[in-house]
Parts: sequence; C-alpha cells; structure tokens
Amino acid sequence: MGVFITFEGPEGSGKSTQARLLYERLQAEGYPVILTREPGGTRIGEMIRRILVDLRHTEMAPTTETLLFSAARAQLVSELIRPYLSTGGIVLCDRYADSTFAYQGYGLGRDLDELQAITAVATGGLMPDLTFYLDIDVEEGLRRKRAQRERNTPDAPGARAEWNRLDARDLAYHQRVVAGFFELMQREPARWRRLSANQPIATLAAQIYAEVEPLLAPVARLGPTV
Ligand SMILES: Nc1ncnc2c1ncn2[C@@H]1O[C@H](COP(=O)(O)OP(=O)(O)O)[C@@H](O)[C@H]1O
Ligand SMILES: [Mg+2]
Repeated sequence: MGVFITFEGPEGSGKSTQARLLYERLQAEGYPVILTREPGGTRIGEMIRRILVDLRHTEMAPTTETLLFSAARAQLVSELIRPYLSTGGIVLCDRYADSTFAYQGYGLGRDLDELQAITAVATGGLMPDLTFYLDIDVEEGLRRKRAQRERNTPDAPGARAEWNRLDARDLAYHQRVVAGFFELMQREPARWRRLSANQPIATLAAQIYAEVEPLLAPVARLGPTV
C-alpha cells in the first residue's frame, strides 16, 4: 500500500530542494502526500537530530551515532511512515536507511552486516519503492552548502541553514560515502534512479516527476481542494 520514495546523495546535492518540489507538485496534482526527513520528522526524532548534529559532541562514539540515527528512524517509521503508507498515501523522505549504510558503513567503517541487522530492527524491514540518487561532486556539494549557509537560506521551511557535526567531517570521509552509495546502487539497480545534480533545479525536478509518475496509478487522488 502507498508509495515510499526517498532522496539520497551527498550534502548539497539538492535533496531537500527536490523533495520539496516533488511534494508541491504531487500535492498540486491532488495526491495524498507527506514530506519528511531524517534524522527527524517526529517530535522525538527532531530532538535526536539535535544531539546528532551538535558540533560540541566531538566525543560521540560511532555506535552511539548509529543507534541514535536508528532510534530516530524507528520513531519515524512507526509514527509517520507506516501509518501513512497504510492509508495508501505517498511518503517522501529526505534521506533514509541507505544513508546509514553509506555514512556509518562505508564512511565510518562500521560493519555492514551489523548495520543491516540494526536497520532491520529500526524499520521492521520497510524499504523504499524508489530512491533518487542526486549525483554531484563532493566538493561542489560542499561549496553549495557553504554558499547556502552564508546566505542563511533554510533547507526546509522553519529550519535554519546549518553547518553541522556531520558536514564538518573531512573530504576523504565524504568521498568514501559517495563510493558507498555507488556500491548500494549496484546491489539494487531496480530501486535506484541516479540523476545528475549538475542541472538546473527545474530540469531535475521534471526528470524526477517523470520517474515517479508510473508509480502513481494505484494512488487515489484526493477530492478537489478549494
Ligand atoms: N540543481 C541545482 N543547481 C544549483 N544549485 C542548487 C541545485 N539544487 C539545489 N541547489 C542549491 O544548493 C544548496 C543545497 O541544496 P539542498 O537542497 O539543501 O541540498 P541537500 O538537501 O542535498 O543538502 C541550496 O542553496 C540550493 O538552493
Ligand atoms: Mg538537505
């Protein structure tokens, strides 16, 4: 039931921008849709997010980090994602479990089987129907993020543009993460759509919508909103 779509890719690749545009387009077309993000998306999850991104938390052990992400995800799946999918709606999520494999697995060197087991507990095995990978050079993405921070434009309504503990890791780390995403895509090519993020925002949005459209047939539209 329902359709579950996630956005993945390095920082600054345009995930939040594209997730929001897809959300607005689907809503305008009359589809039942919600947009959420990881870590966060629930009251409890947003509190966990604050712990994760805090630049002062330099002492955080990798296991703690992994379990906090997973705790936030467990709350999101049980409070928001599953209930909404079970009503037949569309759930858009800005990052999901793939980010754990890429960042904590390939990036920090955590054991992938262990992460798989933790993720299965957190999600109850729920994986997306479709995952977009917004492909961008790590340095270009970090440049975009820095420029965004300097303009202080929010990456989501109500959120401040943030430079956080996870963004602040070194370039080699971010490059391992990208290599990790490529591995993940190779393992499950049917679920992933890899699109170049070096295109105008509207062009990319149109490509994303074209990939999503075929999945919409079973989704009942809401009545006209006046
Ligand atoms: N296709 C694009 N081309 C140029 N800049 C973009 C593009 N998509 C997003 N941006 C800009 O890059 C910055 C990061 O975008 P954002 O959507 O927050 O990325 P992410 O959520 O992947 O970190 C923002 O300032 C945004 O306006
Ligand atoms: Mg974002």
